[in-house]
Amino acid sequence: MIDVERVRADTAGCAEVVHLDNAGSSLPPRPVADAVIGHLRLEERIGGYRAARAEEGRTEHAYDALAALVGAGRDEIAIVENATRAWDMAFYSLPWREGDRILTSRAEYAGNVIPFLQIAWRHGVRVEAVPDDESGALSAGALRDMIDERVRLIAVTHVPTQGGLVNPAAEIGRVAREAGVTYLLDACQSVGQMRVDVREIGCDLLSATGRKFLRGPRGTGFLYCSRRILRDLEPPFLDLHAATWTSARGYTVRDDARRFENWEGFVAGKIGLGVAAGYALGLGLDAIEERVTGLAEALRERLRALPGVTVRDLGARRCGIVTFTVDGHESAGVARALSEQGINVSVSWPASARWDFEARGLPPMVRASVHYYNTEEELDRLCAALPGHPS
Ligand SMILES: Cc1ncc(COP(=O)(O)O)c(C=O)c1O
Repeated sequence: MIDVERVRADTAGCAEVVHLDNAGSSLPPRPVADAVIGHLRLEERIGGYRAARAEEGRTEHAYDALAALVGAGRDEIAIVENATRAWDMAFYSLPWREGDRILTSRAEYAGNVIPFLQIAWRHGVRVEAVPDDESGALSAGALRDMIDERVRLIAVTHVPTQGGLVNPAAEIGRVAREAGVTYLLDACQSVGQMRVDVREIGCDLLSATGRKFLRGPRGTGFLYCSRRILRDLEPPFLDLHAATWTSARGYTVRDDARRFENWEGFVAGKIGLGVAAGYALGLGLDAIEERVTGLAEALRERLRALPGVTVRDLGARRCGIVTFTVDGHESAGVARALSEQGINVSVSWPASARWDFEARGLPPMVRASVHYYNTEEELDRLCAALPGHPS
């Protein structure tokens, strides 16, 4: 069980705002903020290089903490600027040939579909969305039926940006393993709000970000790359950190996942990211998921009871993201009005997941995303602040 009072006391922002935008960027806990600020202060005093050397143990600890968080080895973790960079480094490392097929989900994120389309145009690769099951999640059975020898990649978003759906990552992993197809999981919205274990899931590659449910600093993210395929993947960019210049015309690429990193980075952020991973592990990912899904269901129930409000989330298994629309009110206006009352939510736009919005005929939606530090009273405040609420 989460000690809500304690985690709220650890979170300065809880005293200032009703923060229901954890899928956007959550409130970091004090130990994360202290770690980042502390390192910046050290850089201010003794210089960035010396500070990095002095705190190398804490930076290295970040790899251990992230590895523990996702059930990986520390040599399988690269720390980068964000989830997009992590995903891109993996995706653009794959050797594409004309006629290759990419199987993905209908709910896929724009930042992934755009690279799919670029590679499709460049290399004559086919991009296909796997049909959903009756709950709206990707159908692992349909995926199995689509497999043939031309499928080069299964790339799926675990939790889409635009709703509470949780795709069946481990079932997808079983299909990928049976078929021997590389499996890239976008876990940007799932890491930090539920247990995500790369061995259980069976993915080869996984991308995630720091600032969302993990409560880490902005400008941080990480990539997991399995040892199974690590040495076969040549990153699209190399520098003197990812590789060593060994002779006048020769270089060797590192043999751990840091081949996907580059030399200069946000050292304070890396340290803070490690602290955030340790903080989540300290609370326990199962306890976090239980609290987050309980609050999200409680919010959906309250919203469904309001006249003119339609909850839009799909999936048999749902998470902390709640999307809805209010009849007669544009979602951007609803979000603005909530913000004026100290309540943070965001808006999911069609351009963030066009296949899903178009297939379901969805308008822009209000996205309220809960974390374990939110309270039922905050959910009531959100509902009471909605236009047309009969209070
Ligand atoms: C599903 C999904 N994937 C990837 C990203 C990109 O993450 P980042 O902004 O850290 O690159 C997002 C961001 O909202 C997302 O929702």
